[in-house]
Order: sequence, then C-alpha cells, then structure tokens
Amino acid sequence: MSDLIHRPRRLRQSSGLRALVRETRLVSECFVLPLFVCPGEGVRREINSMPGVYNLSVDEAAREAASAYDAGVRALILFGLPETKDETASGAYARDGIVQQAVRAVRRAAPEMTIITDTCLCEYTTHGHCGVVREGEILNDESLELLARTAVSQAEAGADIVAPSAMMDGQVGAIRAALDASRLEHVAVMSYAVKYASAFYGPFREAAASAPAFGDRRSYQMDIGNSREALREAELDYAEGADILMVKPASVCLDVLRSVRDRYDLPVAAYHVSGEYAMIKAAAARGWIDERRAMIETLTSIRRAGADIIITYYAREAINALKNGEF
Ligand code: PBG
Repeated sequence: MSDLIHRPRRLRQSSGLRALVRETRLVSECFVLPLFVCPGEGVRREINSMPGVYNLSVDEAAREAASAYDAGVRALILFGLPETKDETASGAYARDGIVQQAVRAVRRAAPEMTIITDTCLCEYTTHGHCGVVREGEILNDESLELLARTAVSQAEAGADIVAPSAMMDGQVGAIRAALDASRLEHVAVMSYAVKYASAFYGPFREAAASAPAFGDRRSYQMDIGNSREALREAELDYAEGADILMVKPASVCLDVLRSVRDRYDLPVAAYHVSGEYAMIKAAAARGWIDERRAMIETLTSIRRAGADIIITYYAREAINALKNGEF
C-alpha cells in the first residue's frame, strides 16, 4: 500500500463520473423564490441593485407565481410594500393588506404553490424598524402582539407557513399561541432563528422600502461574531415551537448553518440574501466572474453546509440550470 499512489483523480475524469460520486445534490424542491408585492395594477418595476428582481403589483405577482410554478418553483416567500405606513404597522395585519391580497391571488393563480409570508413590521412602519418604537427604543413585548396579529392575518389569507423575521424575543411562542387560538394550528412557523445584523441586506431595503429611518438593527439582530449565541437563539425557537429553523445570511454563515443542522432534527433553511445575489450579479455584469458557475458553487455550498431549504433570488435560474444538467 505504501508504494502505491492513491488516485482520487480517477473519479474526476468525466462529468459522468463526477456526477456519479457527487455528495451534495440540489433539487428544485429545495428552492424558495422571494417576491416583492406593491400597490397598483400592471406594475413590474425592476430593483436597481437586484437585476432580475421586481416590485410586482398583486396581479403581476399572481402571474409571476403561475409562471414560476410552470418553471418548477414550488415555494414562494412574499414581502409587501404597503400603500401607506404608520407607527403601528397597521398595513401588516390589515385584512386587505398587500400581502394578504397577494396570498389570495397567488393561491388562485398557482393552487399547488407553497406560500410563505415574511412576518415583520419594518416594511409597514414609518420608522422602518421591525418592532414598535417609543422614544428611540425598539420595544420587545409590545411588538409581539402586532407580530402575532400579522401572522394570524397572513394565515387567514391562506399562507401555508409564516416566517417571523423581526428578531423580537419570544416572537415564535407568541405567534404559535395566536395561531392556535385562531384555529390555525395547521399553519407552520419558519423562524428566522439565527439572523445576523448584516450589510448584505442592503439591496433588500431598496426592494422593500424598509431601511430604518434612524439607527440600525443591531439592538435586535445578532452580532456577526457570535456562534454559541446562534445555538441559543435556535434553542429558544425550537422550544417555542418553530417547525423550521433559518440561518441568515447564508454564505458568510456556513459554519453556523452546519452547527444548527447537526444539533437539531428540524428542517433547516438558509437565506441567500439580497446582497449575496447582488454581488454575483454585479461582478458578472462586469465580466469579472462567470455568473452561472458562481451561482452553482454558492448554492451547492449552502446545501453542503446543511440547508434543506434555500431561499434565493436565483431560484428560477438555479432550477433552469438543474434542468440543463449544469449542476
Ligand atoms: C425583514 C427582512 C429583511 C430581510 C428579510 N426579512 C430585512 C432586514 O432585516 O433588514 C432581508 C432579506 C434580503 O436581504 O434578501 N426584517
């Protein structure tokens, strides 16, 4: 054995051999496509910092959902840009709020689509923070009631999964209790359990018009240096009844994703966020990287680190690449 050269290269000689022994496989069912829904009719407005991503009016979102379903997308996450914003985020839990309308329209246009709603207040508040603000403070417990109302209203509109992303302590428990009290015990909670304060959310705030008017989100989103705390956040949401745990952002947190995967038996989701998408798009537009390969490499790495579910603006392109056998 000692005078033998070991030859791992044997299994790398052809794309057939490489595919045969590939450990990590992406499947189209693992992708979730985000949509940003805005007021109006026939609106399809591209987001400057996210080429290929649009603000869509309800009718356009329904059309997009149907065409995404035909292309192989099986799950969407919906974000809303309300007509008006206020201090109490009333647009988030209005019966006829923008996301509630979109859920119903998507359900009609693509009945088999799994519909996830982002449950947060930042898109609906004048100050752009994810909770209730008083004298410059983001109040935790007062925000819980509004988040719970939002989740119930999204579920009543027909969401299959609500996804609390405000990073308020106790939000999963409050939402679970409110759903159960409204006989919505069948609606699942996908918790943004481990959500870091990240520069990579920049383009999203343009897409969702949700940049905070003062300060930043560091008093509620996590510090990027912490991984033990990530497990504690995951533990709390697990204990509060989350059905799916999410780590966000994805590619700068692969270590955390792996730890959460190893420690919990729940499905784990990773959010490949707006800035991660924008970086690939921007470099590719300059001819500096091969977009297709960078996309495949990034999404495969997220899967390799343990994600069962990947939320990405690349969902359609990734599914296309899978169909063409590019993975
Ligand atoms: C709402 C929310 C944000 C994202 C998902 N839900 C923005 C934020 O927390 O600032 C970011 C998603 C992305 O960047 O693609 N709180």
